[in-house]
Formats: sequence, structure tokens, C-alpha cells
Amino acid sequence: MEIDKIFDEAKDFLPILGIDYIEFYVGNAKQSAYFYKTALGFESEAYSGLETGDKSKVSYVIKQEKIRFVLTSSYVDNSEINDHYLKHGDGVKVVAFLVEDSKKSYQETIKRGAKSFLEPIEISDENGSIIKSGIYTYGETVHLFIERKNYNGVFLPGFKKWNNTYSPNPIGLKYVDHIVGNVGWNEMNIWCNFYKDVLGFTQIVSFDDNDISTEYTALMSKVMSNGNGRVKFPINEPAEGLNKSQIEEYLDFYNGPGVQHLALATDNIISTVSEMKNRGIEFLYVPETYYDDLIDRVGHIEEDIELLRKNGILIDRDDDGYLLQIFTKPLVDRPTIFFEIIQRKGANSFGKGNFKALFLAIEREQRNRGTL
Ligand code: FE2
Repeated sequence: MEIDKIFDEAKDFLPILGIDYIEFYVGNAKQSAYFYKTALGFESEAYSGLETGDKSKVSYVIKQEKIRFVLTSSYVDNSEINDHYLKHGDGVKVVAFLVEDSKKSYQETIKRGAKSFLEPIEISDENGSIIKSGIYTYGETVHLFIERKNYNGVFLPGFKKWNNTYSPNPIGLKYVDHIVGNVGWNEMNIWCNFYKDVLGFTQIVSFDDNDISTEYTALMSKVMSNGNGRVKFPINEPAEGLNKSQIEEYLDFYNGPGVQHLALATDNIISTVSEMKNRGIEFLYVPETYYDDLIDRVGHIEEDIELLRKNGILIDRDDDGYLLQIFTKPLVDRPTIFFEIIQRKGANSFGKGNFKALFLAIEREQRNRGTL
């Protein structure tokens, strides 16, 4: 696939420099921050709450290489944050983009039909100022446009450095590879067109229910990318099957569309995954038979297959190289959001060859939950 050519053709009226942060609305931000620090090796970066003068909400900001999470909870009962939490459980509210010009990003996307979440607003403190604005995407999820070129402080105005002596070792996570959204029946094309028309993204991959199905369940998926390829958003919708697919289960428990999984990249998936296991993270189980014909399917790979088998890591190849990937079980109470750990060795694709094995693994979990 000539991926560079595809990116060149993308209409880049909305230059996105990268993902600035991902904000989760959660029931208990303090404990969520502890969980992600402990289990995934994030470090403390910034804090806002009562001590910084915010009497309505509390946020912990944690970081690992280029990945930044914000965990936010409400202090008060009547709030947008609490409404979101009651409806969806812990989940991703914001995928924030780093941009050169927040006002222009807002104007360009609103002009093209985006629904406003936040009009451009400048916020300052003694370290300078930022401009932020935002639009809605699928469900109640939003994109913020963060312009921080005139800001030198920690994270955003209103935050202070979070000094915390508890600092577990990082586990080798580098950046956000892609963020997947689940949308409702027949809504995949609507939201792909939203990313195309409103944000200038381009479609780089498409899977239909022939690619992603088992005897029982199915889904369809298209992958949208921004112009420089730094932001990739696959969009899934359920497809007809004998039983309820994982996408429907998600939609039922999340009460609508939302972020299904975050794929985080590593340079050494074996060490990252074995460390996560040591720290208590559970992964989808892949049958040992998956590895029997591995070399026939993917050809030569540099990794020790025994170690891949031992850790349940999946491998897929495309024209450009291969990739290694693995999926956690849901990381919150509801069977909603989970994480993927991915290591790319040339491949730009998303593991199509693994979908069937993965679907079977997810169906086993659904059966345990009584939701298949
Ligand atoms: Fe993924």
C-alpha cells in the first residue's frame, strides 16, 4: 500500500500535530491514576482540584513518552462529568489534538458541519496562555483543539506539577498508535464521512463482515487517518450474526457509541506484555493452536516464537512488514474499553489476519459474561 501517497492526498485544512491527551471521565480519578501508574508504568505529571482552587472537579495527569492521560472525576453531584459517568461508566470523554491554531481548527470544522462542544477560549496563568476549543464526535465523545505554543507551564493553566514519590518503572509504551470507536448499526459510513468531510481525514483501510466474522458474530470496520498519518481512527459498527457481537455488547453497556480501544505502541512487546502481566493485567486468551502454523502464515520473524506463544502475542504480516499485537480484557467494570499493545515492524495495517482468532477469544469472554 502506498500509504504516503494516500496521506498526501488528504485535504489538510486541519493540520494536527498529534494527540495532546486522552481524558477519561471516571468514578474515582485518584484510584484510576494509581491503577494506570501501577499497571502500565505511567508517571505523575500534573494535578488540579481543591488545592488548585477547583471546587467542582479533580484531574490527575499522567504520562509515558508521548502518551498522556487525564483522569477526571466530579466533586459535585450535578455535573456534566457525573452525568457522563452515570450513563457510560469509566470511559474516554476527550481525544485532544495538538494544533497550531485552535480558533482556525474550530472555525474550519464548524463550517463543515461539526457540532460545537466548546467555543474557542483563551486561558492564562503566570506561565503563559493556551487556547482551546472543541467539537463533538460519535456519542458523547469530543475532540478538543489545544494550542499551547505560548505556554510554558506544566500541562495547562490551572494545573500544578503533581509531585508524587510513588513512581513505578515505565513498561516501554511510546505513543498512541490508533484509537477505535464503536458506533451504532449502519453508522460506520456516517462517522467515516464525518472524519473525511469535517476533519479532512482519508480512509486508509476497510474491512467487511467477510473479513471479520465467525460462525456467530460479525463487525465491519474502516480506518480513517489524518493528513500526516499521526492520528488513526478505526470506526467499527456491528454486523448481522447469529449471536450478539462484541460491538453490540459494548453499545449496550456503554449506552451508546464511544471509544472501544486505545492501541499503544511499544518497541519491545514481549517485555512490555510480560511486565503488564506481572502487574496484574489480564489479556485475551489465544488458543495454543494459533501458533502451530504461524511460520506458514507470516514467514520469518525476528522474535522467539516460544516467547510469543507464552505471552499470547499475535502476529500478522502485510506488504510492508509485520506487526505484533495483543488485547487486554476490559480495564473497567463494564465490558467496554480495553487496550491493545502493538509493535510495528514495517507493517502499517491493523492485524486483519488475527481477527478471526480474536473474535473467537472475545466470544469465549462474552459467553462467560452471558452476553453472547
Ligand atoms: Fe486496534
